[in-house]
Amino acid sequence: MVTVIDGKALARKMRGEIAEGVARLKAKTGITPRLVVVLVGDDPASIVYVRNKEKGAAELGMSSETRRLPSSIKQDSLIEIIKELNSDGLVHGILVQLPLPKGISENEVVAAISPEKDVDGLHPLNMGKLLRGEEPLHLPCTAQGVIELLLSTGIELKGKEAVVVGRSNIVGKPVALLLLQKHATVTICHSRTRDLGGVIKRGDIIVAAVGSPGLIHGDMIKQGAAIVDVGTNRVGEKLVGDVDFESARERAGFITPVPGGVGPMTITMLLQNTLRAAELLSSK
Ligand code: GUN
Repeated sequence: MVTVIDGKALARKMRGEIAEGVARLKAKTGITPRLVVVLVGDDPASIVYVRNKEKGAAELGMSSETRRLPSSIKQDSLIEIIKELNSDGLVHGILVQLPLPKGISENEVVAAISPEKDVDGLHPLNMGKLLRGEEPLHLPCTAQGVIELLLSTGIELKGKEAVVVGRSNIVGKPVALLLLQKHATVTICHSRTRDLGGVIKRGDIIVAAVGSPGLIHGDMIKQGAAIVDVGTNRVGEKLVGDVDFESARERAGFITPVPGGVGPMTITMLLQNTLRAAELLSSK
């Protein structure tokens, strides 16, 4: 029998703990954690994501603001704004919503964020520490959410075959490194992988993060595998994952739904990182 992992319930529980942390920090130091999200342009999906981040922050007693900037902004001006936010003592977390418009280098913009305020965990220092097995100041939110969902099932990760489908900096690579840290045997596969189905079938744990609706079918899944579906693909009015839920649930031991799996956890981890950023900066 498959267990559907309830991301909403886990997110609710963790958000309760974060809200307590926010209240404790306020009582002890008078500091309210503050997140600034930088949104360049008017990509409709990004606008929805950003609104949910602001709403989530407010619910936990944090302060947040979205800086909306025109898609015509020059990279230098954007980096100037980030530098101002870096030196603003009232701002603890900075997130630049991706993707950025053509002509702006995401790498250069993300590298301009102070690593202490990099609540997305994407700064080269934080990603480099993750690669070296050192403790980063912040971990990428979705990757962290995937690990929390897996841990919530109680399954042992040590020694297991984990297959990560997708190699993005935001999800695939960090999730693979975190699984490796938990002593899983990790394979990363992607669009050029030969015999993708055969590779996926080795996985006791499968993390799907490719952005291809319904790519992974039940017949590619080992009996009893734990599946975390990071895909959020809009198909008409519906949001669907990278995993074909109906065929996959027939074979999986655990599976996350879309929506209601990884999505609520990503924002939860962002809020946890924002609290930690405020704690870090308040203890300086
Ligand atoms: N766009 C989609 N997901 C993310 C994310 O986790 N962080 C940022 N900065 N942009 C995103």
